[in-house]
Amino acid sequence: MHTKHTWTENSATIQVEGLSNPVKVFQITDSHISYDQEIDRPYVSYSKRMNTAFQDKNTTGLFQQMLQQASEALVDLLALTGDQVNYPSVSAVAFVTNEVQKTGLPHLFTAGNHDWHYEGMEGSSEALREEWREKRLSPLYANHSPSHTALDIGGLCFIAIDNSTYQVNETQLSFYQQQIARGLPTVLLIHIPLSLPQMRTPNSPNLCGDPEWGAQKDRNYITERRQRWPESGNKPSTGAFLEHVLTTPNLVAVLCGHIHRSRVEPINDHAFQYITSAGALGGYRLLEFHP
Ligand SMILES: [Fe+2]
Repeated sequence: MHTKHTWTENSATIQVEGLSNPVKVFQITDSHISYDQEIDRPYVSYSKRMNTAFQDKNTTGLFQQMLQQASEALVDLLALTGDQVNYPSVSAVAFVTNEVQKTGLPHLFTAGNHDWHYEGMEGSSEALREEWREKRLSPLYANHSPSHTALDIGGLCFIAIDNSTYQVNETQLSFYQQQIARGLPTVLLIHIPLSLPQMRTPNSPNLCGDPEWGAQKDRNYITERRQRWPESGNKPSTGAFLEHVLTTPNLVAVLCGHIHRSRVEPINDHAFQYITSAGALGGYRLLEFHP
């Protein structure tokens, strides 16, 4: 699939051979909103640290401004790629859901590692993610599966896969393969950037699919009060997923966040990984796909 990509810190213009219609997407990631009300009080021992994250920023105001900008640009899709909230607070999720619904724009949400995490709660990341996505984040998914979903807009297929534990499971991998096999030009939404081979440098952040990922690389499990990453490293399906993405002929772009800075990296000769800066820092990305 022939493509041509140009970009800035907060935009991208992508020409896609054979695309039927122009498609505009507004990506918001890592808004890191805290919005506690009385109802959130019982959870304060699990939310204290992240409650103060970005407290010097007007995260709710920035979120509203971005949605305003997306509405004015008449985008076809809002791509919400995780860490919109600092933890699964009832009030913060209600705020985000309301603001998104008020725009009337179609949206896809995939979770980040903070959206479902109350620090210090017992349990594996996978079990906690399952529990809190269901208990608190479900309004943000509308009718989509929290684990993996797809949506066609204007001849482009958008796939969202939750990789917020740094892992991709067998079910998600086969879903990706099924969607890709349909042959449409495809955009993948994830939270944690893929560890492309050229991004593996000595001080690089931990990314999804890095063969070295595991207990030895986990620097934050004490601060974040969660289970340490496993000694056994990645699931085989995570490595296989990365391999599939690298060689997908009809992939156009991967949209992600997590590292809080804007960076664009080639995946192969037709697709790029767009890492978008944090909404909490005023970051966003407006993407225009053209035939
Ligand atoms: Fe994150």
